[in-house]
Amino acid sequence: MNAPGPTAPRRGAHASVRHDSAAGHVTGRAVYLDDMPLPPDTLEAALVLSRHPHARIRGIDLAAALAVPGVVAAVTAADIPGVNDIGPILKGEPALADGLAEYAGQPLAAIAAASLEAARAAAALVAVDYEELPAVLSVEQALAAGLFVASPQVMVRGDPDAALDFAPLRLSGELRCGGQDHFYLEGQIAIAVPGEDRDMLVYSSTQHPTEVQHGVAHLLGLPFNQVTVEVRRMGGAFGGKESQATIIAGIAAVLAARARRPVKLRLPRDDDMLATGKRHPFLIRWDAGVDAEGRMLALDLVLAADAGNVADLTPAVVTRALCHADNCYWIPDIRVTGLSCKTHKVSNTAFRGFGGPQGMLAIEAVLDAVARRLRLPLDTVRARNFYGTDSRNVTPYGMVVEDNIIERVTAELARTVDLPGWRAEVDAFNAGSAVVKKGLATVPVKFGISFNLPTLNQAGALVHVYTDGSVHLNHGGTEMGQGLFVKVAQVVAEAFAIDVGMVRVSATNTAKVPNTSATAASAGSDLNGMAALNAAETIRGRMAEVMAAEHGVPVEEVSFDDGRAFARNRNCSFGELAQLCWSRRVSLSATGFYRTPKIHWDQATCTGRPFFYFTYGAAAAEVAVDTLTGELRVLRAELLQDCGASLNPAIDLGQIEGAFVQGMGWLTSEELWWDAGGQLRTHGPSTYKIPGSRDVPPVFRARLLENAPNREATVFRSKAVGEPPLMLALSVWLAIRDAVASVGAPGAAVELDAPATPSRVLAAVRRIRGGREGWAG
Ligand code: MTE
Ligand code: HPA
Ligand code: MOS
Repeated sequence: MNAPGPTAPRRGAHASVRHDSAAGHVTGRAVYLDDMPLPPDTLEAALVLSRHPHARIRGIDLAAALAVPGVVAAVTAADIPGVNDIGPILKGEPALADGLAEYAGQPLAAIAAASLEAARAAAALVAVDYEELPAVLSVEQALAAGLFVASPQVMVRGDPDAALDFAPLRLSGELRCGGQDHFYLEGQIAIAVPGEDRDMLVYSSTQHPTEVQHGVAHLLGLPFNQVTVEVRRMGGAFGGKESQATIIAGIAAVLAARARRPVKLRLPRDDDMLATGKRHPFLIRWDAGVDAEGRMLALDLVLAADAGNVADLTPAVVTRALCHADNCYWIPDIRVTGLSCKTHKVSNTAFRGFGGPQGMLAIEAVLDAVARRLRLPLDTVRARNFYGTDSRNVTPYGMVVEDNIIERVTAELARTVDLPGWRAEVDAFNAGSAVVKKGLATVPVKFGISFNLPTLNQAGALVHVYTDGSVHLNHGGTEMGQGLFVKVAQVVAEAFAIDVGMVRVSATNTAKVPNTSATAASAGSDLNGMAALNAAETIRGRMAEVMAAEHGVPVEEVSFDDGRAFARNRNCSFGELAQLCWSRRVSLSATGFYRTPKIHWDQATCTGRPFFYFTYGAAAAEVAVDTLTGELRVLRAELLQDCGASLNPAIDLGQIEGAFVQGMGWLTSEELWWDAGGQLRTHGPSTYKIPGSRDVPPVFRARLLENAPNREATVFRSKAVGEPPLMLALSVWLAIRDAVASVGAPGAAVELDAPATPSRVLAAVRRIRGGREGWAG
């Protein structure tokens, strides 16, 4: 611990402070749940997963499992003492299947044993009596059968049907984008420790400690005040631990309550991929009316999400998809219909972008098709459709785009990368290359910041100043590698004008800061930073009063700078002032709270101002495609992202690079493949291909937009960064389409779904050449 004093460098808001766990991450010293020393007598657990996508469970025979030496407890839904429901939005979503299995991989039972080996061996011996039922395994089947997990959502402006009829040119199409496994390096894990009087302490790898608290309380039949959830860090989450962690923590807690011993449940990777939800695949149908210059006059868009077996977060994901189907474009007459289709597959969930990427992919595919048909550059068509600053700046959901800087962002990117020169190089290459074809494309991105359910946009914090001037900080946000802890510590350091090294962030804990929202929607630092600032300012105000009284000056003349407090010509260190406050019996502890202003949303009409502000970004990517094999490489990517007045440029650049590569994975190599029997066949790294270090483009530059403070009063005028840059990867997908188009006749349509795997790319090449059909769609 540094002694407080004037020699400490100031590293508050806007400084590129390294991640507080950077050294811990690279040396392996950072403690994840699997590294935690366990209490004596802790049991290890394993799950029994359904083998069938849809089956009545006639019986579960645990006898053989219970006979395995070391096995202490085995539970099914019947053994849940409270209510078997952990649905985050809608009711009726069980932690353990109760009589009905609705996806292959669904947890049916769980075993706790003295060793992991015994638990897994016993799980394999559980005999389940299934009565198989017909399964719905695709969005098309769900649409045909009218099976949905939630009501349709319709966003309309104007009269799209009439406008379509009047449009000079009408184009339509259908495409699909795939799901995505989160592939967090640390899989789902929880440790449940029973206490006195049925209390339960749960260490969970979750983005949403409060929801885990509620889920465990429901399952155990306890009031919320008997359940405490703690999270120090996650080894990645990406949305996959927003709701899904509750399943794991809940089952661990049920076993722990049953055995009256601590239980650790850590899923093997295959079980993790089979049992827990992913990004939603979408089926997209569109009908567009444009004029001869490519101006969008009307659009009728259907976004059908594969929700899987239950709603989970699907309704909110669909809403965000609808709210991003405009991307940066003014479309006067528009209808976007969002459908939450029920299939007998694992229930899909939050994933970085939360429906935004799918909505944006849809409109970018539409504009790409329009541009090709009109033989215009895609960027030209986009520019003709950008939101303006006049009456053409209202989204289909009725929100005025007040902070529009998309033209500035795209122009700055085009200038810094010399887009015309780059295009000429690509064209020249293609003219001289018969088999390998290059493609180049850009993408503009506008992403709305705030949870699209206004209630969730609140946060709390707890700050203590100790008498040596060191600061203890706790807030409702969770650390998943994104750098939230260091950012919020910087905010508090800035408020006290001390070095960030003086601020220690402690593990997120439902007993310290209650009733929190998930760390999600990229809003972690916006919300928790403001709550922590609120707490710090309360304490600073009290400290200033003490300083003023001590030196007989008005409080307005007290200031804080460089680790010291000043009152006219007198000053002392921050720690000395803390000591003085204590001796004067003034509290050095405060809670803080924040609620995002200005936002509102009407779910029934899909209108309102769901977002406090928008972030903007643009990217350009170059790919090379082998037209004989469909293989591809991303050769160069240039990114420009608006982070407002960045709280921490080093962290933000890391977020931008990571999000882009993750987006690339979604759009290129990561393919979730279910067989005709509803079994996921890509449930490990040998078959499911996330991008590796060699897939990162050899030329890869990310930049922050300079001099762009948030015009809304966010924490030190910063903007959120976690999700938006993922959508910059759409440039890669569009560049692949560009490469495919280069082998077709001018104006020919490109038919390419996502992910653009080699087989899909090859099929697209064959289709556009008018030759033989490929073997994949
Ligand atoms: N970065 C890392 N390293 N690991 C993660 O799991 N999750 C992303 C993003 N960046 C994630 C990440 C997602 S989905 C969100 S919503 C935000 O971080 C959440 O954190 P924030 O709100 O503090 O940005
Ligand atoms: N993002 C993430 N999680 C959410 C959201 C959102 O917009 N809305 C509700 N839960
Ligand atoms: Mo991020 S998908 O909102 O956890």
